[in-house]
Amino acid sequence: MKHLISLKDWSPEAILEVLDLAVKVKAAPGQYADVLKQKTLLMIFEKPSLRTRISFEAGMTQLGGHAIYYDMSTSPMGGGKETIEDSIKVISRMCDMVMARLFKHEDILEMAKHATVPVINALTNNSHPCQILADLLTIQEKKGDLKGLTLAYLGDGYNNVTHSLMYGCTKLGMNIRVGSPEGYMPAVEVTEQCAEFAKESCSSMLITDDPAEAVKGADVVYTDSWMSYHIPKDEEAARIEVFTPYQVNEALMAQAAADAIFMNCLPALRGAEQSAGVIDGPQSVVFDEAENRLHAQKAVMLKLFGVA
Ligand code: CP
Ligand code: NVA
Repeated sequence: MKHLISLKDWSPEAILEVLDLAVKVKAAPGQYADVLKQKTLLMIFEKPSLRTRISFEAGMTQLGGHAIYYDMSTSPMGGGKETIEDSIKVISRMCDMVMARLFKHEDILEMAKHATVPVINALTNNSHPCQILADLLTIQEKKGDLKGLTLAYLGDGYNNVTHSLMYGCTKLGMNIRVGSPEGYMPAVEVTEQCAEFAKESCSSMLITDDPAEAVKGADVVYTDSWMSYHIPKDEEAARIEVFTPYQVNEALMAQAAADAIFMNCLPALRGAEQSAGVIDGPQSVVFDEAENRLHAQKAVMLKLFGVA
């Protein structure tokens, strides 16, 4: 467990260990108040963030360490000025851990390759593992044992959150169904890898263009933005048209289990990927989900530092 780049690389046991630790950290935060004293986390951002930045920074403070926000637009790193390799070698001499939110997944792989300190993927175009650890913690709190539960994801399937949900669910024995339109299905490579993980964990995976088939009887209904940070504005109209049948609204929620919960990693747009009634309604757990970013990430940092 040297880095957190993708849940694909983590064993089910490692994921469960972090979830168990997150439960402990959440229950008794004071017990961990000094464990990262004198440690520095560098937080590299190439894209915007509310939750990820604030939860890592507050989390580091709560663990007794310090976090530096580092904006890529003011950096010589990348862009022909200084290679990622040189940059991360320097950073490794000064900081104890690095997290990065980047466009290209290859760039975080390059960072991890040359870093001599742990590297955390804080979102790339391809995956968002920190989010999914918080999501699994939330589902466990609301529904108990994860094994055997069914999660339905609706909307943009070729998406970082979707891919990481697929890894997380199939690793832990949760059934996953993805309802996405043709042309926006999950990456073939991810689907193939997850089919193997589903076999190993005795769970199922369904990728369909039928939103009703995806959501039928599900315990968890999940959606994400149709306009992820890296999607150009000029795609918006076409995306609204193609994704509208996958909007999680009251009619679609009614086809899930009666006690289903609704999740969205946020930021969310009411009237787009879900209706206001669903996200603001009694089945929505989105703010508990957002809070759990803090607890789950504290657990990730403690594990990667090897102090818990
Ligand atoms: N869910 C999430 O990662 O939110 P931010 O983009 O605000 O960090
Ligand atoms: N898929 C979204 C997730 C935001 C947290 C994006 O990449 O913008």
